[in-house]
Amino acid sequence: MNDTDINSIVKKEIAIDNYLSETGPDVLREELIKGLTAEQKYISSKYFYDKKGSEIFEEITKLDDYYPTRTEKSILTNNAKSIVKDFRQTTIIELGSGDSSKISIILNSLSNMQLKSATYIPFDVSKTAIEKSISDLTEKFPELKIRGIAADFMNQLNLIPEVKHKVICFFGSTIGNLNPQDAFEFMKKIGDIMNAGDICLLGTDMVKDIKTLENAYNDNSNITAAFNKNILNVVNKHLKTDFNTDLFEHHAFYNTQKSRIEMYLKAKLNMQINSPSLTRKIRLNKNESIHTENSHKFTNENIFEFAQYAGLKIKTVFRDKNGWFSLIQFIK
Ligand code: SAH
Ligand code: AVI
Repeated sequence: MNDTDINSIVKKEIAIDNYLSETGPDVLREELIKGLTAEQKYISSKYFYDKKGSEIFEEITKLDDYYPTRTEKSILTNNAKSIVKDFRQTTIIELGSGDSSKISIILNSLSNMQLKSATYIPFDVSKTAIEKSISDLTEKFPELKIRGIAADFMNQLNLIPEVKHKVICFFGSTIGNLNPQDAFEFMKKIGDIMNAGDICLLGTDMVKDIKTLENAYNDNSNITAAFNKNILNVVNKHLKTDFNTDLFEHHAFYNTQKSRIEMYLKAKLNMQINSPSLTRKIRLNKNESIHTENSHKFTNENIFEFAQYAGLKIKTVFRDKNGWFSLIQFIK
């Protein structure tokens, strides 16, 4: 990593290299306007994660209905000793690190020697999430070196430092939020970045019965609905639009053919969205929907396809007893 051309923000012991400004506000605006004026309107799911969105996501992870987080955490807890066996002076890079609570499980299993020689790099588009996780981890693991990267993993993976003994983690089945072609290309980039001796730990949510899947995205306390609607507040901030979240319904269902949960916001009324800075009007008809997220569910075959496309070998696939979630250990 080149320290001279980065915008480094150092706050007490919190070190974050912020590359978000490289995707300027005009690029974000263009991307959002393109989606909101398309035939099927859409907003990229990366816009969920402002400060409030990251907080609501953390609430989702604690819901009984939302099984992926507790299931992946149980896999990490049950296999941590075996996972960290090969860690040597490791640089752990976690993509889409969020609250970093999963990496804590791994860090808890490192020996003092391993911890002292390790560096942790949370990489996330949400700077506030990185700040919070660095402050939590610094308290828990004072000897650990931590340096955050605030950036977009879709087009800034080149920011991953070229060091030996990398462990690249991508937990939560966030890979399922990418479209399939992007997911393959993403894994190929990871494969290209990795050297012999590096490890990639990938979490994937597996295909299962529809009821379990749909309940996870339609919880009784409407937290997922609040998460979904908050994306409109984020759009309002970027585009100075006047979306009223009360005029939308949360809609999430499993598309069996495409093996994915699809999430939409459905307009309750005909409406026009205004903004002093928009040259084109955004109009929505009653019942028209905005697509906000896909969450693909995977099979064993998909895991082999990822390995093949990325030029990686599968060392181990760790699973829970129901086979609901997989944690794959890839090596070069
Ligand atoms: N890994 C955590 C958080 C998952 S939520 C877990 O398993 O619980 C998804 C995370 O990915 C959020 O923190 C979000 O801010 C981040 N994210 C989403 N799209 C991103 C992108 N394009 N680039 C970087 N981070 C992204
Ligand atoms: C971050 N990602 C893997 C979550 C998922 O399950 O697709 C985001 C989410 N959307 C609604 N609930 C949780």
